Amino acid sequence: MAASTVVGREAVAPTILRVSDVEVVYKKSILAVRGLSLEVGEGSIVVLLGANGAGKTTVLKAISNLLGAESGHVTRGSIEYRGKVVTHADPADLVRDGLAQVLEGRRCFAHLSVEENLVMGDSATRRTRSDLKAEIERMYVLFPRLRDLRRRSAGFLSGGEQQMLAIARVLVSRPKLVLLDEPSMGLAPQMVEEVFESVRELNQRSGVSFLVAEQNAAVALAYAHHAYIVENGRVPRGGTAAELLAEDDFHALYLGGSADDRERAAVARPRRPEFTLRG
Ligand SMILES: Nc1ncnc2c1ncn2[C@@H]1O[C@H](COP(=O)(O)OP(=O)(O)OP(=O)(O)O)[C@@H](O)[C@H]1O
Ligand SMILES: [Mg+2]
Repeated sequence: MAASTVVGREAVAPTILRVSDVEVVYKKSILAVRGLSLEVGEGSIVVLLGANGAGKTTVLKAISNLLGAESGHVTRGSIEYRGKVVTHADPADLVRDGLAQVLEGRRCFAHLSVEENLVMGDSATRRTRSDLKAEIERMYVLFPRLRDLRRRSAGFLSGGEQQMLAIARVLVSRPKLVLLDEPSMGLAPQMVEEVFESVRELNQRSGVSFLVAEQNAAVALAYAHHAYIVENGRVPRGGTAAELLAEDDFHALYLGGSADDRERAAVARPRRPEFTLRG
């Protein structure tokens, strides 16, 4: 595991994920990510902010090595997870090693019940029946709404309920790092808060690290310890919520939302010590 690093006089959390100078090309011709670098400190919530087509999903899929199905390849750079280079690792091995992804669009098995979806979440780890039962019970404690819906077909759940199920299904494998792609997409503001609250709770209670791609900068910054901006396949800047909000043009460029949203982000106070931007 990576040791803690010291930048100046400040101690920085050990790194669970390091993406260094990564380039991704789709179909041998479309350059989607160009020399992108970022880090996730162990036990932290990091967000990737950026507009449509900026490259957020591509980065997440590069990390969990899911680009192959779309003829995408990492053509330069490296990805390190828990101190090991995993740039071309088998995705199933990554899941077994605690790196899990909730894909964009909350992919649940529509014809299976909520509980059957949760059981499917264990397919890479294969626990004993009683361990799996305990794990599913843990999810019902975290998401009480899912307990009430456990026999319902996932296809009949609301968008927010499906998002919770998609997250819970991934959590059944007891990940150390969760990659979460656009959890707020299509959800009412109240639901978005609920989803981010469960992310915070898992982070604080179980120490799970999160890398979250999000367009809703106002909400994401209220929960993140650190944020990176993705633009055109690059990360031109990053920092703590407070650092980004202090930048002159940040509000105009990334917080186009309501005055309420802007206020919420402005008073955002991450509840862990903030990490220092490296590099
Ligand atoms: N399967 C693919 N084949 C070819 N090009 C792709 C593919 N997937 C994404 N791209 C291109 O790569 C770039 C980055 O797309 P990506 O989906 O990573 O962006 P994003 O930041 O997740 O956007 P959004 O917020 O809309 O989800 C875009 O220009 C997109 O058109
Ligand atoms: Mg995307």
